[in-house]
Amino acid sequence: MRYVIYAGIFLMTVACNQRKSSQYTETAHPGAKDLHTQSNADSVSMEHLHLDIRVDFSSQTISGLAAWTISNNTGAAELRLDTRELSIDSITVDGKKVTHRFDVADSILGSRLNIPLEAGSRTVNIWYRTGSRATALQWLEPSQTLGKKAPFLYTQSESIYARTWIPCADGPGIRFTYDARVTVPEGLMALMSAVNVQQRNDSGIYHFNMEQPVPAYLMALAVGDIAFKAIDPRTGVYAEPAMLDKAHHEFAEVGGMVNAAEALYGPYRWGRYDVLVLPPGFPLGGMENPRLTFATPTIIAGDRSLVSLIAHELAHSWSGNLVTNATWDDFWLNEGFTVYFERRIMEAMMGKDYADMLWELGYQDLDATVTEMGAGNRDTWLKLDLRGRDPDEGLTDIAYEKGAHFLRRIEETAGRAKLDTFLRRYFDEHAFQTMSTGQFLQYLDAKLLNGDTTKVDVNAWVYGPGIPEDCPRASQQLFGKVDEARERFLKGAEPATLEVDKWTSHEWLHFLRKMPVPLAIDQMASLDKAFRLTQTGNSEVADRWFIMAVAVKYQPAYPAIEKFLSQVGRRKFLTPLYSEMMKTPEGREMAKRIYEKYKQNYHPLAQESLGKLIN
Ligand code: BES
Ligand code: ZN
Repeated sequence: MRYVIYAGIFLMTVACNQRKSSQYTETAHPGAKDLHTQSNADSVSMEHLHLDIRVDFSSQTISGLAAWTISNNTGAAELRLDTRELSIDSITVDGKKVTHRFDVADSILGSRLNIPLEAGSRTVNIWYRTGSRATALQWLEPSQTLGKKAPFLYTQSESIYARTWIPCADGPGIRFTYDARVTVPEGLMALMSAVNVQQRNDSGIYHFNMEQPVPAYLMALAVGDIAFKAIDPRTGVYAEPAMLDKAHHEFAEVGGMVNAAEALYGPYRWGRYDVLVLPPGFPLGGMENPRLTFATPTIIAGDRSLVSLIAHELAHSWSGNLVTNATWDDFWLNEGFTVYFERRIMEAMMGKDYADMLWELGYQDLDATVTEMGAGNRDTWLKLDLRGRDPDEGLTDIAYEKGAHFLRRIEETAGRAKLDTFLRRYFDEHAFQTMSTGQFLQYLDAKLLNGDTTKVDVNAWVYGPGIPEDCPRASQQLFGKVDEARERFLKGAEPATLEVDKWTSHEWLHFLRKMPVPLAIDQMASLDKAFRLTQTGNSEVADRWFIMAVAVKYQPAYPAIEKFLSQVGRRKFLTPLYSEMMKTPEGREMAKRIYEKYKQNYHPLAQESLGKLIN
């Protein structure tokens, strides 16, 4: 039914496009108004946040003080903040106790907290505690960590979950500086998206400062048995001690990545760049928390083959953290730019052929996503319309890959040198500001295209569905040897005779992705025998292989599949694998059994989406 509606929109869109594509302007669509915050930060400016909080593992709560320094320029009668399932103990404004009021909770946005103000009010102190279902928080038992001895906590605030652990104006367009005092159990280390220490202390009290203004979704905290190892003077890794050396080895090139990024688009403006490797339950690949990227351990492959993920999170230090999408409808300005930038960093580090493999795999993802969503689906526009919806619904390959390919198309027509000059200036001129889609398109037109839209059909990319006709594609020769090897295998050649010695995980991924599904069981067995795919340490390859194994009920892989699902919490892997299982009755049984057994290892958000899938 949903797709029928979308098909209707598609036909209208096509018709409009033929008439006059330039009628797609920002004003015809929801503009820069952020509909996912109920705060009134447009009237009251949120200058600084001082946090003084305690992390209590036994009750699984964070509690304490959020002290906001505000400037009530417009004489607003109230300060309105986003909260979700927070309990308020008391509130003072400039030292005087006040009576607050909560609005009725919205299922997506939470409960607006209304605090009476006076014209000159400057400080609002809120004593509060988090609820038992705070979406941003994942509390891990010692058994869910690598070291098994200490508990672990980390936050994930994007898109609209900062409000589940801090009362705040939770919109990407609202920036503030912050400092924090965080009390944790003695012996544990605490880190934030701020200036961090490198050694734990005995008191369990840590101080943080973030002097560049950031939006709430970039607030982050991690607490656990964590140690640090430097990569070079400005980069390093944090991880559980048992993971530290492996992570350090994997990320040896991170310092070089920061240099490469700076050479492309200007100075890194955040001081240090460190990476924190989280326990395996982390639901994401990575999160670009300023100064401290949070990363999944599933990229520690041993051979540095998956470090483009770090290039991605690093690139967000420009696209996203420096110039931030104004609303979640403009999410492609964060993610599409970042994927483009990520591939430019990888090209600088590894050469063009390597980067082209990433582009081709990305194109395949885009193509598969558009096919799955339906080519006319409104959600395949770059400019999203998330009114009344959870911004998580915008988290598809459209923002990432269609966004990146749009920039690649501009590169193709304007030339790389011009695009680079343009982007460099874009970051400089909008540093620490927000950007809407309409604003970007104006800037693009003024500074790069100069009214010449004959070469790039901007409207088709941004305000139209599917993959535009002029979408760039890497040479099909690129993976030629891999395609050849696959063909030979499918025609009966012995796997041992295939020349796979120099393959990286990208070649393997391409090799497997284009295999017929299901593959015959004896073919699975012969591949496995020759290449030990069931035992692969590469999570991307493993995920693909396990999907193929489930599709043809290749039993020898089942123990490895269960082990993978018991440890890995990354939604990108869990969702496709569980979905494949759900296709047959036996698979459904297996999915239910495994999910029930290990769901406590998954993040609340992963549990939510998998719960729906499986039940
Ligand atoms: N900022 C995103 C993660 C995110 C987006 C979290 C929206 C919540 C809502 C991060 O930079 C990201 O894109 N991570 C990817 C990895 C990347 C290499 C594509 C991921 O986690 O898979
Ligand atoms: Zn990203």
